Amino acid sequence: MCAGRREAPPGAQSVEKQGMHHLSVRLPALLLLLFFLGACTKSPTAATPVATPPLGQAPAGEKLFNATLQLVGAPTCSVCHVLNPGDEPIVGPNLSNLAKEAGTRKPGMSAKTYLREALLEPNTFVVEGYQAGIMPQNYGDLLTEPQLEDLVAYLLTLGE
Ligand code: HEC
Repeated sequence: MCAGRREAPPGAQSVEKQGMHHLSVRLPALLLLLFFLGACTKSPTAATPVATPPLGQAPAGEKLFNATLQLVGAPTCSVCHVLNPGDEPIVGPNLSNLAKEAGTRKPGMSAKTYLREALLEPNTFVVEGYQAGIMPQNYGDLLTEPQLEDLVAYLLTLGE
């Protein structure tokens, strides 16, 4: 279209004519496109997923664990926690077996609930050999609910 215009002799009339010609050719195509776009935007409501999505996304949680939290002003988990079995703990416990341990920390409390609590109120259970008050206490303020759920989903995959 642009090349065509460049070749056209200067003069408002001829440019206008050419423009009209282009429009008449393109209008049906444009209408067709609009029709399809309309159909596309409507389809998600028509095909509502039956299964409820999982609460958190482990891959997103893994990213948060390793880096992204620095972006929201919170210390990154990986600064204090190692994940490989046998690695020397840094500041916090080695979390390589966390999926199994989390369910045994508090009698009657599921692993998932314990992990949520461990992030929101770390001092309600202090892992043996460690001190209270070192794990940041303000993740509840810094993380959004979906971020929290993603992190818990990821922690539940550690040492499964
Ligand atoms: C400044 C260091 C530090 C940072 C940063 C930190 N933690 Fe901790 N974390 C600790 C310490 C120390 C403990 C042990 C004391 C306790 O239980 O509160 C701990 C305990 C935990 C526990 C309990 C582990 C168990 O075996 O029961 C979990 C789970 C945990 N942290 C996850 C995280 C996650 C997820 C993040 C990032 C959102 C994070 N921590 C960031 C220091 C840290």
